[in-house]
Amino acid sequence: MNASRFAAFPEDFHAVAALYDNDMDGNNVVHDLVYPEVFGPGEYIGQFSDNSASELVAMGAAMDLPDGSSVLDVGCGTAPVATLLATRFGWRVTGIDVSATPLRKAAKRVAEAGLADQVALVNGNVYTHDFPEPFDGIYGTGAFCHFDPSRLFARCRDLLRPGGRLAFMERVRTGELTDDEWRRLTEEWACPTVNTVEEYRQHLDVAGLRVDEVRDLTPTFRDWQDRSVVVRLRRRTEIVALTSEQYFETSTRLADHENAVTKAGKLGYVLVTATRVDG
Ligand SMILES: C[S@@+](CC[C@H](N)C(=O)[O-])C[C@H]1O[C@@H](n2cnc3c(N)ncnc32)[C@H](O)[C@@H]1O
Repeated sequence: MNASRFAAFPEDFHAVAALYDNDMDGNNVVHDLVYPEVFGPGEYIGQFSDNSASELVAMGAAMDLPDGSSVLDVGCGTAPVATLLATRFGWRVTGIDVSATPLRKAAKRVAEAGLADQVALVNGNVYTHDFPEPFDGIYGTGAFCHFDPSRLFARCRDLLRPGGRLAFMERVRTGELTDDEWRRLTEEWACPTVNTVEEYRQHLDVAGLRVDEVRDLTPTFRDWQDRSVVVRLRRRTEIVALTSEQYFETSTRLADHENAVTKAGKLGYVLVTATRVDG
């Protein structure tokens, strides 16, 4: 299988912030139309990651942190996951995001859920923001793909208390990618690379984070991808009315492409949990 490749990665995350502040903002309305059908009743909560609400709760359960724990959501976006997990597990969650536009929606969501005392939101870069105290847990859903994993995991380790838990759900490379597949899976999403499970393991190990579990979520990921193409095609008229013909064509092509790469066995999806170990 090909070795990991990194696209040039800007330190300041301007490309990521631009993606979520501008392009993805229009994408939200399409997401809200397509994904309730993709995930099924009660499973769409506004999340941008490829996970149903049940999978997100399963990630929270796997972190195994008691009521009142302080937990960081890296790349919280509009904070659907922070809101869900704060409610379900009684955690105090801090959501951080470099993009200002999703955070405005996040503030509204948190206020409407009556969670202003339990969920704090920060517009900043997780590498440089000065957090006042260490966290019991850190998680990311659909966000870690934007980072250089060695740098991110080192930062997470520093932000966790000893014994603190890390969890993330991400796409993983499971086969040999062509140059074109590589480009489309990285550049088009402002992601520097697509890691294998083994690469993630090594980066976590070097950072002092012991892997507890790697759960394979590829079967449901395949389902979500399949359905996202089917639902898009069926709701073409509404999507074009909300956006444009060009948007429909480009976004459907991108979804279809990722679906084909997954079906060819080159792309999978995992939940990884790890613990900060010392000494
Ligand atoms: C695909 S969205 C996922 C949002 C959310 N976790 C969800 O599941 O709906 C990825 C988010 O990561 C954020 N992000 C990327 N790099 C970041 C960084 N260095 N610090 C904080 N947030 C970042 C982006 O702005 C974007 O909102």
